Amino acid sequence: MDIIERFIEHPNLEKKEYTALLKASEEPLAAARLAEEAVRLRKKYYGDAVYVRGLIEFTNYCKNNCLYCGIRRGNPEAQRYRLTEEEILSCCESGHRLGYQTFVLQGGEDPWYTDERMERIIRAVKERYPGCAVTLSIGERSYESYRRLREAGADRYLLRHETASDAHYRKLHPPEMSLSYRKQCLYNLKELGYQAGAGFMVGTPGQTYDELAEDLLFLRELKPQMAGIGPFVPHHSTPFKNEPAGSVELTLRLLSIVRILLPGILLPATTALGTLDPLGREKGFAAGANVLMPNLSPMGRRKQYDLYDNKLCTGDEAAESLAELKKRVSAAGWRLSMERGDAAEEPEDKR
Ligand code: 5AD
Repeated sequence: MDIIERFIEHPNLEKKEYTALLKASEEPLAAARLAEEAVRLRKKYYGDAVYVRGLIEFTNYCKNNCLYCGIRRGNPEAQRYRLTEEEILSCCESGHRLGYQTFVLQGGEDPWYTDERMERIIRAVKERYPGCAVTLSIGERSYESYRRLREAGADRYLLRHETASDAHYRKLHPPEMSLSYRKQCLYNLKELGYQAGAGFMVGTPGQTYDELAEDLLFLRELKPQMAGIGPFVPHHSTPFKNEPAGSVELTLRLLSIVRILLPGILLPATTALGTLDPLGREKGFAAGANVLMPNLSPMGRRKQYDLYDNKLCTGDEAAESLAELKKRVSAAGWRLSMERGDAAEEPEDKR
């Protein structure tokens, strides 16, 4: 039996087999077979629903200096901003009026947002919109900090691990950052009862199938409720400005593979995918993705949250364009759902 069928039957492979799987999936028929199985599993767990999350990018200050990222500390061209508590709440209000039931508060690693300030913000959002889920995406913090924010009411946390290969991690990040601490953060988040989201970029400079195989092993071990998987897109004022973007096709194959590995996982069709390919999100759904994260940030700030070049933030990427989005999702054969869209109970079973 070939590696594709073997993986579909028994997704727990060894590292070198995942490497071979990635190589084998270059064949269009193999990729189609993976996508077919991914869609079957995704329907089994989530039906035809595509869940939406309102993304509020509330600060682009960042103390980190990741080599790929446009809001890295070392980019003097970034126009920095912070939203006040009132501004964040007003984004939630707009989102709530539109029907959003999940707010993702995302930002750079900005020490201005201390635990006290974050607790206030989370409590205020939960008090006004008790049925809504609050997702945080604010980087690495201490166990104690995660505990306090969870206590304040945060339900979910997104922290992409970016790459699970130590050697590759060191090529993407300055020496003061460590993969082991990042992974520890993810385990801490899970332990504290967050629905946790890990994830990685596809096609960062020099990345190999072997390294992507490590991402698959790590996801299998962590069993996160969510995973953000998007192509690398260069940003003109970072050290990676001249590097090529990641491949849309490889990203899609990885979405299918991760869906098969963890069938109950929530997988967004990422903004980066939509940025590189106008049909990227539709292709993402057809590969196994089931989440969209439209932008709810204040209109005037959207361009400033500039992670990579040409990042979408208007048109269908805007949370306000729900009607358009609904049409596109229906046209692709899915159903836009405004429900909270929590992760399935047992992400790894029920095959
Ligand atoms: N290309 C693609 N994704 C990027 N991110 C940051 N910079 C880039 C880039 N140049 C992603 C990281 C981060 C998420 C918020 O955005 O994976 O976790």
